[in-house]
Amino acid sequence: MSEKSILNLIDIVKLEANMDINAFESEDRDLNDFLLKDAKNYSKSLLAVTYLLQIGDETVAYFSLSNDSLIKNDREQPVWNKINRIIPNDKRRRSYPAVKIGRLAVAKKHAGKGLGSRIILTIQNMYINESQRAGCRFLIVDAYRDALPFYQKKDFKFLTEQDCNDDTRIMYFDLKTV
Ligand SMILES: CC(C)(COP(=O)(O)OP(=O)(O)OC[C@H]1O[C@@H](n2cnc3c(N)ncnc32)[C@H](O)[C@@H]1OP(=O)(O)O)[C@@H](O)C(=O)NCCC(=O)NCCS
Repeated sequence: MSEKSILNLIDIVKLEANMDINAFESEDRDLNDFLLKDAKNYSKSLLAVTYLLQIGDETVAYFSLSNDSLIKNDREQPVWNKINRIIPNDKRRRSYPAVKIGRLAVAKKHAGKGLGSRIILTIQNMYINESQRAGCRFLIVDAYRDALPFYQKKDFKFLTEQDCNDDTRIMYFDLKTV
């Protein structure tokens, strides 16, 4: 199936308690297990909401979101100065409202077809359209090392250099740039 045709077939639905997900296999076992075993409990506990990208009965990708904030790290003043420059003077704070992409995965057999990009676009739209219920300026992700180039292509920036040798790195995206 071509990239264009698969994107046309996708429905994005919120994971509900009564839904069955039979199988999901991305490159990352923890992300597969989360979807199959934990995602509903996170929703029930109001800790994260999970959304599925469906083609008919098949789950081809998913993502989970939680409210969060971008918090000033005193040891990274240059990065914070850069962030502050995009906020009007009288509205500058030590933290800004954000939403965290807690988990995001595309099924192995559908990787490279634009589904990851569709997810980022969907999240951006969720937080900049008129139905938004609370202010949210940034997207944040604690990105897996292998996925760093993906997020960089989507214009996410590194928040700190302190995690440059870690397995995951915190990145942020300014929704005002959409
Ligand atoms: C990372 C992931 C979400 C990307 O999803 P995808 O549907 O394959 O991405 P897309 O097809 O939308 O690719 C968008 C762009 O990013 C690039 N890209 C995607 N994954 C990449 C990677 N691992 N390394 C380098 N570039 C990558 C693509 O080449 C494409 O570039 P282009 O716009 O120049 O053509 C997916 O590979 C995945 O689920 N990986 C395993 C789980 C994971 O790492 N999740 C992230 C947790 S933080």
